Amino acid sequence: MKPQMITLHINGRTHYVALNPNLTLLVALRDLGYTDVKSGCEKGDCGACAVFLNGVAVNSCLVLAAQADEGEILTAAGLGTSEHPHPLQTAFSDAGAIQCGYCTPGMIISAKALLDHKPHPTDAEIRDAISGNLCRCTGYAQIIQAVQSAAEKMDAGGEG
Ligand code: FES
Ligand code: FES
Repeated sequence: MKPQMITLHINGRTHYVALNPNLTLLVALRDLGYTDVKSGCEKGDCGACAVFLNGVAVNSCLVLAAQADEGEILTAAGLGTSEHPHPLQTAFSDAGAIQCGYCTPGMIISAKALLDHKPHPTDAEIRDAISGNLCRCTGYAQIIQAVQSAAEKMDAGGEG
């Protein structure tokens, strides 16, 4: 298959790449070094590969890179910096919501998608929002606690 030139805007950086048109966005992102985007099931079941594409949370294993041409992509690592982490990033760490960490980037994307439109979610709403993200380690309680804690900090600090 003939490579296709595409442009991806990822975490504020622009990449011009020649890609096989049947390559998924997940593979393209990891090949470009965005290894915070995790590869799990590669069929839309685990949420480990979630990113924002043009402001919408998607499983990047279900999107062709070519479909994201000219798109704005935000990965979990792009939400903050080590000097200025996003409240969700610190809350996951502080609440012990990260064990092996494989699910964490996808969880953070789903949590941010929720908090963007519902800043004061109930535990049930958080559970619902992360229902497409599988975690084999934590039992989910600390993850829900982390999202609640981030929601409180974002409310107090006006961050998003
Ligand atoms: S790797 Fe994409 S949903 Fe599992
Ligand atoms: S922390 Fe290991 S899968 Fe969630």
